[in-house]
Amino acid sequence: GSFRPRPARWWEAAGAQAALLACAQQGTPRYAYHLPTVRERARQLKAIAALDRHFYAIKANAHPQILRTLVDEGFGLECVSQGELDRVFAAVPTLAPERVLFTPSFAPIGEYAAALARGVNVTIDNVELLQQWPEVFRGRKLWLRIDLGHGDGHHEKVNTGGKQSKFGLSAQRVDELVGLARTLDVRITGVHAHLGSGIETVGHWQEVVDELAGFARRIGSVEILDLGGGLPIPYTEDDEPFDLQTWANGLAAIKAVHPAFQLAIEPGRFLVAEAGVLLTHANQVVEKDGVLRVGLDAGMHTLIRPALYDAWHDIGNLSRWNDAIVQDFDVVGPICESSDVFGQRVKLPQATAAGDVMVIADAGAYGFSMASTYNLRSLPAESILPSA
Ligand code: LLP
Repeated sequence: GSFRPRPARWWEAAGAQAALLACAQQGTPRYAYHLPTVRERARQLKAIAALDRHFYAIKANAHPQILRTLVDEGFGLECVSQGELDRVFAAVPTLAPERVLFTPSFAPIGEYAAALARGVNVTIDNVELLQQWPEVFRGRKLWLRIDLGHGDGHHEKVNTGGKQSKFGLSAQRVDELVGLARTLDVRITGVHAHLGSGIETVGHWQEVVDELAGFARRIGSVEILDLGGGLPIPYTEDDEPFDLQTWANGLAAIKAVHPAFQLAIEPGRFLVAEAGVLLTHANQVVEKDGVLRVGLDAGMHTLIRPALYDAWHDIGNLSRWNDAIVQDFDVVGPICESSDVFGQRVKLPQATAAGDVMVIADAGAYGFSMASTYNLRSLPAESILPSA
């Protein structure tokens, strides 16, 4: 891939770059977040008439100010662990528990019990939970995550549907679960499917609504169809921006077929990916056998998406933004692993040198939240940019 600035990005404005350079002076690697972009994405989704309930999947980015911003925009918060629930109520102590959704996978039973005690909406995704711990769930209203038997997504590692996936109740066992629920006085009030991440086919969500509505009618007590997350963002120049209007029209059409149900979504990436950049300094520039490498103080411990999913993030040199003469560089990190590579043949200013401030784009989702201390390197810092 090659880096060509896209004018629509907030951080390409001259003022924003000055702010980013100032931010990088506080130390790197550092994620910097632009809250107006979060608000803009939130408002785009809130404007879609077919959607009744909006949750933000906080696993994408759990920075307290991002959570407060999205709650302020009318979003509820979707959590998958006790730690995420604790974060949510620490960040927004006044948050009504009905605006929180707990959708864990193979979590310890104590986390379900604690979530139910807090009064948040809880999603179960297997029969065994009710069989082994009936007293935890007796008399509760629950949501049910179903595996619709097909998945999708930007990489096989984020496909969460089908037989090979650990997620969701098999469609074959829905009747069994509903029967058991009835004996425990459990009411299933929502049905849920999240089948993958970075899904670009509009027909996917129509299919999901249609299939969930079928289960909802069979179950009888369901009010909400939760379509999960999975909205894509354009990471590369060749990615078409997701056509929200077409998506909204598709949802409206399928909702008209199933008017009895409310539609919920729970995106992560769409709301925050473009709002975040990763600021990093170049440690060294090295030539080896004809390949020029720029090594950053950020690596796979800071942003693991390229190493884990072969994901692409645009990279630019903020210190030499207006340099016209460019050259191919491989961009690497300081971790002792061959996969510690952000990109090969990245077009960067030819004069790129140690000490330059570099920017890695679209890093607001699954960046800091997946960072580690591998090689005993520190976790990255985070900053909220002053919104001018
Ligand atoms: N709901 C559930 C139940 C989920 O498991 C997820 C993501 C979401 C919502 C939000 O999905 P999103 O809208 O962000 O696609 N680390 C990967 C993505 C893994 C997503 C896991 N579940 C990445 O960096 O691409």
